[in-house]
Amino acid sequence: MEAETFIQHLKRSLEDQTFVKLTLSKPSQKGGTLRNVFARLIQLKEGWVLSFTLRYTTRDEVKNHPLSEAITLVDLWLGDEFLNADLFTTAQDYSLQYNRKRKARLFVKKPSHVQAPTKEHDKQKQRLIDPKSAKYLHPMGITGQDGKLLKTGQKKFRQINKYIEIIDSLIEQGELGPTPHLVDMGSGKGYLTFALYDHLVNNRKIQASITGIELRPKLVDFCNQLAEDIGFDRLKFLAMDIEEYQPEKIDMLIALHACDIATDIAIAKGIKAQSSFIVVAPCCHKQIRKQMKCQTALQSVLRHGIMEERQAELVTDGIRSLLLEANGYKTKVFEFISTEHTPKNVMITATQGTGREDALAQIDQIKKDFGIDYHYLEKLL
Ligand SMILES: C[S@@+](CC[C@H](N)C(=O)[O-])C[C@H]1O[C@@H](n2cnc3c(N)ncnc32)[C@H](O)[C@@H]1O
Repeated sequence: MEAETFIQHLKRSLEDQTFVKLTLSKPSQKGGTLRNVFARLIQLKEGWVLSFTLRYTTRDEVKNHPLSEAITLVDLWLGDEFLNADLFTTAQDYSLQYNRKRKARLFVKKPSHVQAPTKEHDKQKQRLIDPKSAKYLHPMGITGQDGKLLKTGQKKFRQINKYIEIIDSLIEQGELGPTPHLVDMGSGKGYLTFALYDHLVNNRKIQASITGIELRPKLVDFCNQLAEDIGFDRLKFLAMDIEEYQPEKIDMLIALHACDIATDIAIAKGIKAQSSFIVVAPCCHKQIRKQMKCQTALQSVLRHGIMEERQAELVTDGIRSLLLEANGYKTKVFEFISTEHTPKNVMITATQGTGREDALAQIDQIKKDFGIDYHYLEKLL
């Protein structure tokens, strides 16, 4: 009965376009590899579909289904494959939860989203930033006065777009909340910080506030002035060391290309503030490289400087990801942008969820193998 009502609400939200998203979680089979399903509404040439992201333990799979087929599929999954279903609409939020005896209860809550997200397919989504309306691009030297991309700004523009796409898909799969506070540690000239604010506040209509932390006062003055000039009221920059920053609340912690242990300091701040999301693109990896004395057969390979450098990067970021998992986050490590832009192109994203119990034991083994005394992030946690 409760499941039927849930399906009716799903149908109605798709008909009247109040649908925001649907999440299926708590898989019924303990050993199964399908962990979650996320669904969003998009329009393709052939009509409206629900686009499902099937999250398996080690990969994601995207499948689009016409609406009636999609509803049948959700109906089949409810109480069978998944024991939790959350439907977000701009009218109400609905949560269907099954107990151990597979008896369902439906909870109805106030809507956590005031507006349905854009329903364009990825082809259009790739251009999440419109160079003509993004007011910050011209003062930053990426577009000319006419709003056209400058030749010299094209690479940066592609990088910004890619970054916004990543964050956009991350927040689709988690909960940022209605008034989130995001912190960008080591914000530099603020390209990505401005783009993120513009996207969240002006495209997605989220009442977000963003704080950029940056050591260099000149850059901070430039960014604060620009934010004021273009009316980005809840975007602020502070000239300080990230180590001294004491946030009250962080919903998303970002640190892109912050040098060496600055990335660790940022991750530790995010974990301690129980940030829902942590996004880092590490820079250099000196702290581990200095300590590394390989104890395995790899030793003969690592006598080459470049090999040692890459290994240090792998070990440093691998341990970062494991430490995040040991602290209750789910992580993904992937190439952020192609090496054409920068060789420092690995990104780690972490979303609060169930961590990994064996992560600490795995870190110990890696430390033994590479003769490492400590990882800086361990000391901070
Ligand atoms: C390579 S830039 C990256 C800028 C920006 N995040 C991006 O990806 O475009 C790194 C920035 O971090 C700043 N930074 C490094 N260590 C810092 C610290 N401890 N506290 C605050 N800012 C720091 C530097 O001044 C620099 O502007």
